[in-house]
Amino acid sequence: MRSPGETVMLGEYTRYVHDHIRTRAYSRALAKAVAPGDRVLDLGSGFGLLSMLAARYGAAEVFAVEQLPFAPLAAALAADNGVAERIRIIHGNSACIDGLPPVDLIVTEIFGQLALEEFAVEYIADARARFLVRGGRIVPARLEIFFAPIESPHLAALIASHFGGNWADVEGFDLRRLRQLCFENLASPYAVMKLNGRARFLAPPKLGRDIDFYQDNSSAFEASCRFRVESGGRLDGFVGYFVAHLGRGVRLSTGPNDPETHWGQVIIPAAGNRRVRAGDRLTLECSFDLRKSWHFRYS
Ligand SMILES: C[S@@+](CC[C@H](N)C(=O)[O-])C[C@H]1O[C@@H](n2cnc3c(N)ncnc32)[C@H](O)[C@@H]1O
Repeated sequence: MRSPGETVMLGEYTRYVHDHIRTRAYSRALAKAVAPGDRVLDLGSGFGLLSMLAARYGAAEVFAVEQLPFAPLAAALAADNGVAERIRIIHGNSACIDGLPPVDLIVTEIFGQLALEEFAVEYIADARARFLVRGGRIVPARLEIFFAPIESPHLAALIASHFGGNWADVEGFDLRRLRQLCFENLASPYAVMKLNGRARFLAPPKLGRDIDFYQDNSSAFEASCRFRVESGGRLDGFVGYFVAHLGRGVRLSTGPNDPETHWGQVIIPAAGNRRVRAGDRLTLECSFDLRKSWHFRYS
């Protein structure tokens, strides 16, 4: 068997194996969503973990579609776990796959750090239109992207280590213009940090984007999140995270105050140790475009 490691970096996949919060949430959701005899499409199946869960919960046939060359490994793992006869492994991008029979359920976990970067909305919309039976189910059904201003000593330390010191006098040279560019560079398209438990919301999070996977077709959006500071402090930046609603009350969050997953939080750092007081107004403009780019601006 040709090893997928020859062509693909497998290291990233160890993160999914160890992310029990994520996998248990999908397991709970699939236990409720899969009906005996269902046909299931696992969109972006990797080495087949969600496909095996769907088979465990009674799916008669699972189409495991993966664009990377994992088919031999996924087939071997399915055989090791006694579900090989119910999982059909298909190597290819879902948008290029034709000829699947109608499926009762689509399950997918192709979410980037702030959910949209792998074009989950577009791929799910394509699979929904071409393969899902009327009344079929999608896991997740919905996904929300939130933003909030934060105070975080952890983020402040990162900013200080990169941008502290005297840039106005580096051996007599004024490099402040360079500092500004480096700062913008850190924030563009965004920085990712694991803040879990190490950030305080200065204002309640605001919903930047609410995606309904049964309806939406495009990930592109623009939003303006307006915050009223509730509890004053130092504005170290803004945090972005998502909550996937996997169905029937099962929720998977990458929020800074929720149990840690393999995702980090997206950070928009703020310059200048700015103090904010209760009642102050802050605005974060955010957008995502189809070149896979996030843009943020705050005031
Ligand atoms: C985050 S991994 C998750 C893998 C697996 N579902 C799991 O839970 O362990 C996402 C996988 O989806 C694949 N992928 C993303 N978009 C795809 C598409 N449109 N068609 C096929 N594979 C896709 C990627 O190559 C990657 O292996």
